[in-house]
Order: sequence, then structure tokens, then C-alpha cells
Amino acid sequence: VFASVVQAPEDPILGVTVAYNKDQSPVKLNLGVGAYRTEEGKPLVLNVVRKAEQMLVNDHPAIQENRVTTVQCLSGTGSLRVGAEFLARHYHEKSIYIPQPTWGNHPKVFTLAGLALGRSWERTIRAIVLLHACAHNPTGVDPTSDQWEQIRQLMRSKGLLPFFDSAYQGFASGNLDADAGSIRLFVADGGECLAAQSYAKNMGLYGERVGALSIVCKTADTATRVESQLKLVIRPMYSNPPIHGASIVATILKDGDMYTEWSVELKAMADRIISMRQQLYDALCARGTPGDWSHIIKQIGMFTFTGLNTNQVAFMTKEYHIYMTSDGRISMAGLSSRTVPHLADAIHAAVTV
Ligand code: LMR
Repeated sequence: VFASVVQAPEDPILGVTVAYNKDQSPVKLNLGVGAYRTEEGKPLVLNVVRKAEQMLVNDHPAIQENRVTTVQCLSGTGSLRVGAEFLARHYHEKSIYIPQPTWGNHPKVFTLAGLALGRSWERTIRAIVLLHACAHNPTGVDPTSDQWEQIRQLMRSKGLLPFFDSAYQGFASGNLDADAGSIRLFVADGGECLAAQSYAKNMGLYGERVGALSIVCKTADTATRVESQLKLVIRPMYSNPPIHGASIVATILKDGDMYTEWSVELKAMADRIISMRQQLYDALCARGTPGDWSHIIKQIGMFTFTGLNTNQVAFMTKEYHIYMTSDGRISMAGLSSRTVPHLADAIHAAVTV
């Protein structure tokens, strides 16, 4: 159908460059296009542009000071595991305190890596403390900014080492920057911390296992030595990480326009979850389901920690074919406007039988 399309003439200005590019002569000179060139005839990248680009890529002075060592790991879990093994080998304190409740995999990841779960709060000096950076899993309850500051002061005064698990950045507030606030607070005081970053959920790349462990050190020299030791942890574990998903993530993070597009799409995911919260809450109110269900709309992130007990969860699975973790945690992301009534019926039945 396009066989009769005729060749269009070159643009009168841009066509000059086309002709110039075809010319083989060593003395060729392009005076056609009105775009600035340096004495060497090259396009000029303005310093301010370079700085702005640098800000997009490296958003924190600690990174520019080369105090942060980052290694690609197998998503959040792999990042936690590598960080834990590094600490088990090189940190003087082998106890890690984890939230209660926390993600079910945390205790296994840390103990199998050689750390001990802290049990008594008497010997907390210099221990490691696992913190959910945002959108706490499973409760959906995060500290406020003021509370984070109190946590920071307390931890720094006791010399506790923060290890952040950032698996849901963007899902708490709908804003990537705001959700990094807790980690930034700790990095800003110049002290050390670790952060396990997952892109499984916020980039929808669960199967690609894209993530990174960052260890913020006090000096660039320390960061270099830490990195050399991280390589020794990784090499016998999985040698080196797969490239495909990570290349996608890197492309998005480096490109200003794509980063913005990602933020917008991520916000849409976060907003859909918020709308599911409202719909489920409304559906339970409409049914007059006994109990206060306002936590469904107050909690943030991907999960609702319903308060349903193991028996009620088992009942809902048996009678309504609804599947969730036995602690009563619902992944709101798995819900849709179509399935909300079914879930509301099941919860209503579970609490009224
Ligand atoms: C979850 O808690 O369901 C997610 O973090 C997914 C996972 O890998 O467990």
C-alpha cells in the first residue's frame, strides 16, 4: 500500500547536515544548523546541565562523596541476605532486632545468614535494628516524621545500626521521595546505615528479582573496602546478578522523563489500592459487619492487617475460596471493584458465625 509513496526532499536547514555528513573531505565545515558548537566543533554540555543530570542520578551528597557502596542483589530478599552475611562476618555485634510483627521471611533470612535475633532489650548497645523504610509489612502502620526523628536520635545515641528494608517505596504516600524520607533522615546525620532496596513491586518486576544493597559508610575509603568484602559474600552465593531486569530499572532511573513517567504510573497503582481500601470499608459498613473497620482506610501501603484470626482466615478460605496469609494480612493489590463484595461477604460471615 505504500509503494507509491515518493521520496520527500530534505529539510532546507537539517538537510545541510545530512549533506555535510555524507561529505568525505577532511576540510569539511558545517555552517548550516544554528546550534552552538565549541572551538572544537562539538556540542557544548553546559555545566549547569551536567549538575542537574548529576542530581537526577545521584540524589544525595553521600553518593557524591563516594561513601555509599551499592551492589546489585536478587531483589529485597537477596539484598537483606547479602547485607546480613556481610554483617555476620564483619560487624562486631551479631544481634539483630526485628519488628514484631514483621515480614515472615525476615527471621529466616537473618538467622540463616548467621545473625541472632535480639530478644532482650537489655543488651541493645550497637546491635543491628531492622526498620521497614515505609509501608510496614504486614501492619500498614508507619511512624510519623516526628517519630522517625525520635527513633533516629534514640538509635544514634545507643550506637544501634539501622538496616532498612525498602520493599514498597512509592506505595505508602504515592510519592517516591516522601517514601525515602526515613532512610534520608538517617543518611543526613552522617552516620552509617544499610538499605535493601527492592524494585519488585514498585516497578512490577517481581520475577526479575531486581534490587540493591547499599551500605552508607563514613568515608569513601571504608566504602571501597566494604565493597570488596561484599563481592566475597556474593561470588560464592550467586556469582553475579542477572542483567535484564536491572538494565530496565537503570534505564528508568537515569532518564528524567522515564523517571517521571514511572512516578506517575506508580502513583496510579498506589491510588488504586487506596480506592480498594475505601470500597472494602464501605462494603463492610453497608453490611453492618460488627467491629470497627476504620483501620482498613487508615493503614497504608499494599497490605491491610485485618485483625482476622487464623480460624477466621481458614473459614474464609474453606467457605469462600479466599486466600491470604494466616495472620489475617490481605494484599489489597490483589483486590478489584468486582471482587470487593465477595471479600466483604466472607469477612462478614467470618466474624458473625
Ligand atoms: C509479601 O510480603 O507478600 C511480599 O513481600 C512478597 C514476598 O516475596 O513475600
